Amino acid sequence: MIFDRNEKKEVIALLGAGSMGAAIVRRIAAGKKILLGDISEKNLEKVSHDLQYCGYDVETMIVNALEKDSIETFAQKAASLGEVKYFIDTAGASPNQAKPEHILALDMVGTGYAVDAFGKVMAKGGAGLIISSQTGYMYPIPNETELEILAAPTEKLMELPIIKETAMQSSGLAYMIAKRVNHLQAQKAAASSWKERRARINTISPGIIVTPLAYDEFAAAGEGYQKMVDASAAERCGTSDEIAEAAAFLLGEHAGFITGTDLLIDGGVIASIRTGNYRLGE
Ligand SMILES: NC(=O)c1ccc[n+]([C@@H]2O[C@H](COP(=O)([O-])OP(=O)(O)OC[C@H]3O[C@@H](n4cnc5c(N)ncnc54)[C@H](O)[C@@H]3O)[C@@H](O)[C@H]2O)c1
Repeated sequence: MIFDRNEKKEVIALLGAGSMGAAIVRRIAAGKKILLGDISEKNLEKVSHDLQYCGYDVETMIVNALEKDSIETFAQKAASLGEVKYFIDTAGASPNQAKPEHILALDMVGTGYAVDAFGKVMAKGGAGLIISSQTGYMYPIPNETELEILAAPTEKLMELPIIKETAMQSSGLAYMIAKRVNHLQAQKAAASSWKERRARINTISPGIIVTPLAYDEFAAAGEGYQKMVDASAAERCGTSDEIAEAAAFLLGEHAGFITGTDLLIDGGVIASIRTGNYRLGE
């Protein structure tokens, strides 16, 4: 049985075939070609199996998002499959999963390399999405420091004083700063390399979304997270499908005027922190 005879399909490249990534891809992939990249063969097998048995056209590739060469090979592979219309980056590690060095190398530098690499292959009219985090709103960075971050090439990010002196102090700080840097990476690309290719790029900053990563966080620091969720307007965690709904909008043609921006989807956690209804660490 041939399910789809169309050979010229638009390509969706997903880096990080985890829960949120799989939900986003599934929401937008009908009639398109999906390329999944992940360091975990197990995740690739599971997600590609589930997608294939729901009628989607999927290829997989082992990619290490800590390595520039591996990410560039992934971008080249995506381009070899057809017009790269969508790039989604959900590869990441959370505070209770890794040390500061690892979080910064993956969530900040690796994301930078991915944005750079796909900034060379995106098709005209294409769209990208980086999954950042609500934590990107939890550690305000002074404007001058943000301008330094914006000016730094990806290779030099680890040398910036805010990274060496502050972010390296703890996994929590590393994660908050890396996720804020993601917002800046999207702004910078939207105004430079991605702009030149007539492609858009944005970030989504999710609150606590129930995925394997969130299970790890709750197992390590559940009480604090529970208080944070209880103090929020939604009084619950979110789901990958809710993130996918917003992602589909940002990646789609109705969002053609939206680039270089962040969409916070946190059930009201940041609002409760900013208004003093919840204090971080309580
Ligand atoms: N779940 C949450 O509550 C939450 C909240 C805010 C932000 N986020 C962010 O969302 C993104 C997706 O997380 P998720 O919750 O879907 O988790 P997940 O664990 O389901 O997905 C993460 C994926 O990244 C992959 N990955 C890890 N290291 C990699 C590497 N070196 N190279 C390639 N792939 C690698 C993992 O194998 C996994 O498939 C992450 O960036 C995370 O920081 C998650």
